[in-house]
Amino acid sequence: MIFDSHAHYDDHAFDEDREQILESLNTRGVGKVVNIGASLKGVQRTIELAQKYPFVYGAVGIHPDFVGDLNEERFLWLKEQCRQEKVVAVGEIGLDYYWDKASHEVQKEWFVRQYDMAKELGLPVIVHSREAAADTMEILKDHHDASVPLVIHCYSYSPEMAREYLDMGYYLGIGGVVTFKNAKKIKETVQAAPLERILLETDAPYLAPTPFRGKRNDSGYLAYIAETIGELKGVSAEEVIRVTEENARRFYRL
Ligand code: NI
Repeated sequence: MIFDSHAHYDDHAFDEDREQILESLNTRGVGKVVNIGASLKGVQRTIELAQKYPFVYGAVGIHPDFVGDLNEERFLWLKEQCRQEKVVAVGEIGLDYYWDKASHEVQKEWFVRQYDMAKELGLPVIVHSREAAADTMEILKDHHDASVPLVIHCYSYSPEMAREYLDMGYYLGIGGVVTFKNAKKIKETVQAAPLERILLETDAPYLAPTPFRGKRNDSGYLAYIAETIGELKGVSAEEVIRVTEENARRFYRL
């Protein structure tokens, strides 16, 4: 069954019908979802969702857009949340120079501290990186530890850089963007990457695939993404779903 490795069902976009959507996923071929905390509030809501729904698991971390909210006390709280039942990863953490909500120095500091926290706790890491290719690579090279599984979520850089990340043993998170007509780099990246290193992800409510582009995304639409990946790699959508489910289970140790 489809494994959505990255979604945000705590988002306000689901306030009206969160329960109906989540309860419908099973009948739409979705077996598991990892809900990703991005803010302090998002982490709290992620843990609540994981407690409520047997097929939902949680990742705990502060997105670079929100690291300005962190301090020592809140960081300790964050670490405690990582020990909650059904928390399977640290994320999403990283650098976002597109929105640039905090200074690059502050973003880097909390990226590294949260990465080290994951290492200490023995949890895999979900990395968010937008318009920060060089600094992300530098930090991950400096701190690389082969015992920490890591995914570059919503991979958006060059096929050459993807090769470097794959050589480091990392996974690539692939979602709706791969179905967009003009997404040449991502299509090339997917063609070149081993299927065994791809995680399917929605980033719901964002980045719905064609033909739903611009609408609210949810895990059921991953079927369209699997179809596109299958076309690019010359395998069936079923094969993509089967292999990426195995990948996500290995990555999150589920
Ligand atoms: Ni996300």
